[in-house]
Amino acid sequence: MSKEERSDITSQRKMEHLMIAKDDSIDLSNSTKWFSYVRLLHNPLPDYSLDDVDTTWKFLGYELNAPLVIEGMTGGHKATMRINESLAEAAQSTRIAIGVGSQRAGLSDRSVISSYSIVRKKAADVPVIANLGISHILGEEGPDNAKKAVEMIDADALAIHLNPLQEILQPEGSTDFSNSLVSIRDVINELDVPVIVKEVGSGISYDVAVLLKEIGVSIIDVAGSGGTSWSLIEGRRSPEGSIKRKASISFADWGIPTPLAILEVSSLNLTVIGSGGVRSGLDAAKCIALGANAAGAARPFFIRAIEEGSKGVEEEIRSFIFEMKSAIFLTGSLTPDQLRLTRKYLLIDPLKSLIDERHIFI
Ligand SMILES: Cc1cc2nc3c(=O)[nH]c(=O)nc-3n(C[C@H](O)[C@H](O)[C@H](O)COP(=O)(O)O)c2cc1C
Repeated sequence: MSKEERSDITSQRKMEHLMIAKDDSIDLSNSTKWFSYVRLLHNPLPDYSLDDVDTTWKFLGYELNAPLVIEGMTGGHKATMRINESLAEAAQSTRIAIGVGSQRAGLSDRSVISSYSIVRKKAADVPVIANLGISHILGEEGPDNAKKAVEMIDADALAIHLNPLQEILQPEGSTDFSNSLVSIRDVINELDVPVIVKEVGSGISYDVAVLLKEIGVSIIDVAGSGGTSWSLIEGRRSPEGSIKRKASISFADWGIPTPLAILEVSSLNLTVIGSGGVRSGLDAAKCIALGANAAGAARPFFIRAIEEGSKGVEEEIRSFIFEMKSAIFLTGSLTPDQLRLTRKYLLIDPLKSLIDERHIFI
């Protein structure tokens, strides 16, 4: 297959993903709400003003308004340019971090590069995160691909997404993940920006985080289960009645629920981003109370971008920040860090039992 043919397929696939991702039925947060099993401890006597709450967050050399990330989603097809433009304008005006979607298409087709680089153009003063899948950094070309992805958008970090379930269910997926860990290490050694390792909705466990830390990863975005289901999205691309379509239903909610994934990873002294099914600023505050340094969301911002453009995304971000700030205040904390370090949360079943099963030290 020629480079051009491969790039056409990647580009076409991105459009199919976006069309399917619009459908509410692929969002598990509409059924199982993992964050409803986390309660924050109310403090009715905060001895200061709501205005004293400081949500600012220092990340990748920038001072941001809140510990919030627009998770990597798109780029790679001309039609995605408007979505990325809206997301980037909103990230810039509200001063939060933003990622682009997988840059695989941009590596092989120069004509789609602007659909990614628009993000840096419109979000000049906030962290912009490049994105490649683990399968694109394997082998000899890996470090080179990583460098190109970072340069393409003048990124402040590179997110490498781990997505074995997605690749298994993808009609044209690649399922050989041999040498993943050494390949991530090689990329870390070559790049002069940090590497963030993320999942895409199945979560990262303590054991995997330990391995990642050992090779020098300093930022983990857990992207746990309970939000966008890539199993369901990929399944829709296979014919009804096919083996992969059937498996996509079986594995729809496969993975580590986000609150558990945050607890798994946050004892390791890494920078942790809690994402996967985060649907409000209160959910985001719960991520932080559980031990994350910041929270991230993808689908809520995507939906607002396609329906209303940058104004809608900006409104969604402002709503997230308002709720996050209110929750920090109502727990008697002054900053996200204080909320994180004092761990003012209570767990309810079934999440509590799940966490007990894992014997996590919390
Ligand atoms: C429309 C859409 C496209 C996505 N594309 C990518 C991608 O290219 N690379 C990536 O690492 N994650 C991608 N993701 C996954 C998100 O970054 C995130 O990890 C996951 O959706 C869980 O967050 P959510 O439940 O808030 O949507 C995408 C998510 C959505 C909704």
